[in-house]
Amino acid sequence: MRAVPRHVACVMDGNGRWARRRSLPRTAGHRAAETAVIDVIEAARAAGVEWLSLYAFSTENWSRPSDEVDYLMRLVRRVVRKHAPLLLARGVRCRFLGVSDPRIPPELAQDFDDLTTLTGENRGMTLTVAFDHGGRRDIVEAARSLIRSGTPAGEVTEAVLAAHLPFPDTPDVDLVIRTSGEQRISNFMLWQVAYAEMVFPQVLWPDFRAPHFVECLQAYRRRDRRFGGAPTQPNGEH
Ligand code: IPE
Ligand code: IPE
Ligand code: MG
Repeated sequence: MRAVPRHVACVMDGNGRWARRRSLPRTAGHRAAETAVIDVIEAARAAGVEWLSLYAFSTENWSRPSDEVDYLMRLVRRVVRKHAPLLLARGVRCRFLGVSDPRIPPELAQDFDDLTTLTGENRGMTLTVAFDHGGRRDIVEAARSLIRSGTPAGEVTEAVLAAHLPFPDTPDVDLVIRTSGEQRISNFMLWQVAYAEMVFPQVLWPDFRAPHFVECLQAYRRRDRRFGGAPTQPNGEH
């Protein structure tokens, strides 16, 4: 097993609770999340993580009050524009997973396209921002694409189906980090997390910083990934 996970996926959770603890509106928690996002991108790069995926907005998050949704759209737009030069300079290749709902403001979709194009030649870490993402929807889309391709049922294997997922070059997730103590996957990259290790730090996302990220990597290193096989650690408890 690699000492550093190749693909880390973060469920950035706890913004609302962070704000509530300060008697602030939920939107203040989202705003405070920006620093954590940049810190984690830098920490992941520094640690040698090759793929970083961040869950920013789920297909289920459309059910939130419209003023919160509107705020998130404006905030993400501002963050994307503000940090584009940094991401370019750091060699980070950026792309956006999801982004299919007509409720996404066209100017935000344009900013996503612009950042994708701007950083498309970068060969450093690949940053996938899951926005308007649902893991089940991706699998349904893959099934549709597969059927359209006319592939005979007998020829459908896991690899063939995976090739029809959005961004099929994405490797399996090695480590899921979900902040705020919640322990669920909430429809995030369902196909890719099949054998991911998971850690659930208590810290709320707006307080999450590089040292927390490094702790998660250390926890990962202590895991014995067996993939259904026999234990690899001699004298292990298992
Ligand atoms: C995560 O924080 C951010 C998004 C889902 C956009 P939450 O807004 O879910 O924060 P909590 O879970 O209410 O604390
Ligand atoms: C998952 O968090 C989605 C993102 C972090 C973008 P939620 O806070 O929306 O998930 P649930 O509702 O607790 O499952
Ligand atoms: Mg939440």
